[in-house]
Amino acid sequence: LKVLAVVSEIYPLVKTGGLADVAGALPGALATEDIAVTTLIPGYPAVMAELKKPEVVHTFPGLFGHDARLLKAHAKGLDLLVLDAPHLFNRPGNPYVDGDGRDWMDNPLRFAALSRVAAEIGQGLVPRLTPDVIHAHDWQTGLTAAYMRYDERVAIPTVMTVHNLAFQGQYGRDLLPALGLPARAYAVDGVEYYGTIGFLKAGLQLSDRITTVSPTYAAEIRTGEGGMGLDGLLRSRGNAVSGILNGIDTAVWNPATDTSIAAPYDLAKMAGRAVNKKALQQRLGLDVDPNALIFGVVSRLSWQKGLDLLLDRLPVILGSGGQLALLGSGEPWLANGFGGATTLHRGRVGMINGYDEGLAHLIQAGSDVILVPSRFEPCGLTQLCALRYGALPLVSRVGGLADTVIDANEVALAAGVGTGVQFNPVNGDALESAILRTANLWRDRPAWKRMQKNAMKTDVSWTRPAAAYARLYRELVAGHAG
Ligand code: ADP
Ligand code: GLC
Repeated sequence: LKVLAVVSEIYPLVKTGGLADVAGALPGALATEDIAVTTLIPGYPAVMAELKKPEVVHTFPGLFGHDARLLKAHAKGLDLLVLDAPHLFNRPGNPYVDGDGRDWMDNPLRFAALSRVAAEIGQGLVPRLTPDVIHAHDWQTGLTAAYMRYDERVAIPTVMTVHNLAFQGQYGRDLLPALGLPARAYAVDGVEYYGTIGFLKAGLQLSDRITTVSPTYAAEIRTGEGGMGLDGLLRSRGNAVSGILNGIDTAVWNPATDTSIAAPYDLAKMAGRAVNKKALQQRLGLDVDPNALIFGVVSRLSWQKGLDLLLDRLPVILGSGGQLALLGSGEPWLANGFGGATTLHRGRVGMINGYDEGLAHLIQAGSDVILVPSRFEPCGLTQLCALRYGALPLVSRVGGLADTVIDANEVALAAGVGTGVQFNPVNGDALESAILRTANLWRDRPAWKRMQKNAMKTDVSWTRPAAAYARLYRELVAGHAG
């Protein structure tokens, strides 16, 4: 079975968040299910630089303004189709924003172009590469299903995966002709969304199946509270909506072979953990103390991630003898808040404001706890890495965080199955109790080690999720044929 994935970022070529991790790891996992995935991505400079002798499989005269080419290539273990459209993608920096952090003005056209090309590939543009299923990810590729629907050539089944409902790609209706969509597409059962054009909305409306990245998030987005304006539509799609939990790439995230950390370790030989803890303390300017409970954070700095709650309850961590090791990039109000805390609590609070893959690994390997106090979290990957690295996740009980961590409550402790700590509702008081509960657990080292062991034994690989996607694709293709 052949799948065309279409996505706006992919690890290790270009990444701003978990979306890239998923897009990068899923093809390899699906290969063991006999599913061949080719991924269509934009030709950003970082992508073009990795292409060795790409094959030109198509040229588009005047694609949204200028000529473009479709390139076929293999890079970093990935089978790629790259949309080489310099007028849209040959820009420095981030896929979505300019140097000042503002959305590129022509984002709707840039990602409409990507979606249009995906739809054309689905309709047989490149004969050798005609897929059986198209799998589109997030709002950037939401129009794929619309181009398929309104083009009325051969149509193949489409899957749309929501990684984050907060980003919807909403633009003025006057853009319709520029997008190359017919007037009839602007309808409630098409791309129309509260008087505008909704890219994600279109994908959710017009794709055959919708998945999101955890079962709990799949339920949350069908409620008024979590649906961000799309809950009605999602409810109306009934059984077409499902949740498939993310995994992580267990080769990239493997404490036994990780070259980014100070000392490798595994369940049988845990001594390396103490070495990593010391290395982390030194790297972040924290007091070197094996008994200080280190709370680590690796995160985008945004309202979604609930880190303002953490900033507010920092005294609770410090009061119980803990330390904070934070790596994050994003919104200045949060970066400044934590920056201030590092000067106020020298040796107890350490922060690197930026993006650093290697340090992310060291924080996982050297922290005792990984904190993820998100207000909402479609899946979350850092708590999965934490489980694998034996840092116990302290998480809010929302979305994928609820589905991947077993709270060490009395029952779980008695049964010996806890892997972390959860709190709910998502507010400062509940976070505070969870921090205190974690500090208490830390005092009982044998119990802590048992939880660490449970955590490290948790299956966080792509094996089960890939099987679920494979089943979904096969059902769709069978249903389409029959
Ligand atoms: P989201 O996609 O919402 O940001 P996820 O938990 O799904 O959250 O994925 C985040 C990914 O990005 C993880 O692989 C995490 O390690 C990585 N990451 C986040 N912030 C940073 C950072 N500042 N430096 C390095 N890696 C980061
Ligand atoms: C989004 C979500 C995150 C999820 C990731 C990959 O960025 O915020 O929860 O893990 O996508 O699916």
